Amino acid sequence: MTPTANWSYPTAIRFGAGRLSELGEACRTADIKAPLLVTDKGLANLPITTRALDLLEAAGLGRALFADVDPNPTEQNVAAGVQAYRAGGHDGVVAFGGGSGLDLGKAVAFMAGQTRPLWDFEDIGDWWTRADAATIAPVIAVPTTAGTGSEVGRASVITNAATHEKKIIFHPHMLPEVVICDPELTVGMPPAITAGTGMDAFAHCLEAYCSPHYHPMSQGIALEGMRLVKDNLLLAFQDGQNIDARAHMMSAAAMGATAFQKGLGAIHALSHPIGAVHHTHHGTTNAVVMLQVLQFNKPKVRRPLARAANYLSISGGFEGFCAYVKDLNTQLGIPATLTDLGVADPDLDTLVASALTDPSCGGNPVKMTPSNTRKLFEACF
Ligand SMILES: [Fe+2]
Repeated sequence: MTPTANWSYPTAIRFGAGRLSELGEACRTADIKAPLLVTDKGLANLPITTRALDLLEAAGLGRALFADVDPNPTEQNVAAGVQAYRAGGHDGVVAFGGGSGLDLGKAVAFMAGQTRPLWDFEDIGDWWTRADAATIAPVIAVPTTAGTGSEVGRASVITNAATHEKKIIFHPHMLPEVVICDPELTVGMPPAITAGTGMDAFAHCLEAYCSPHYHPMSQGIALEGMRLVKDNLLLAFQDGQNIDARAHMMSAAAMGATAFQKGLGAIHALSHPIGAVHHTHHGTTNAVVMLQVLQFNKPKVRRPLARAANYLSISGGFEGFCAYVKDLNTQLGIPATLTDLGVADPDLDTLVASALTDPSCGGNPVKMTPSNTRKLFEACF
């Protein structure tokens, strides 16, 4: 039977098939009377978005939509969203979609009342204290993929269109007030997106698990998240209508993003600049570089991943874990190299420099340097 539950860790999550129907009630819980639904261009005209707008309208909350959001949302998207929010007299945001819709929705709610520019709030030191917290609008987050986990996060990834860098905008109050995790919203995802987003969730769990920072709770969540992916991603990939597999993947996505407060690592440090410059799919890019990163980190992760392999019923310790990842990628149709993914004429100097300034880099168990990161990129091509 598909599980149904109410969770308050780390935010209030209404989890279960069909629970999108509680959208109006969720808005009332957050004291939102005039929400702006923010989603990406691809979702704007899909039936699930129309249904969400119908539900808002039926609850007397209007049906305002902002969907001018690129796959890798930029500061221009944020500015246009804030303009729509202010012009419409809104008092909260329904962030609806995959990573781009959720991150943009959270960024619009955050920026709605700020007077400083977006980049002043990059996740560096205590820059978040520059924000006027009292003006941050409440957010209802409704994921329609199972990968990013942004619905439980306190940050947004926004691409600087001028420098092609992905920047993390952070504030503790960016945490959505209510999350609706309804696996029925993910059944329409095509297999390639199911694979890519699912591998993003797996990468979050894997990198959080391998990060050297001390956080036993995240460690446990990451390990069980990997198990849920192992037991369910292929099922969801092969049969998109399998609502139980979809539900477990939705849990794994929220768990991955909960766990990565422990840290990410080289998979994301490489994937972010590749995605920002070459516009590749984030989760698929993670999957492509995953095996090379595992080998790169082998001296530090051999033992912990042998322990994880035991828990995951994978034989052969660290090497068995790597063989499992290789086999999973093959079954999911993930390209073997970045070249196969379509990344042509890479500017390695720029990619290496961006990887080394990416915030994920600090959580990698092996210290990343200009020379070893260059070799790692070369191995991925
Ligand atoms: Fe990710």
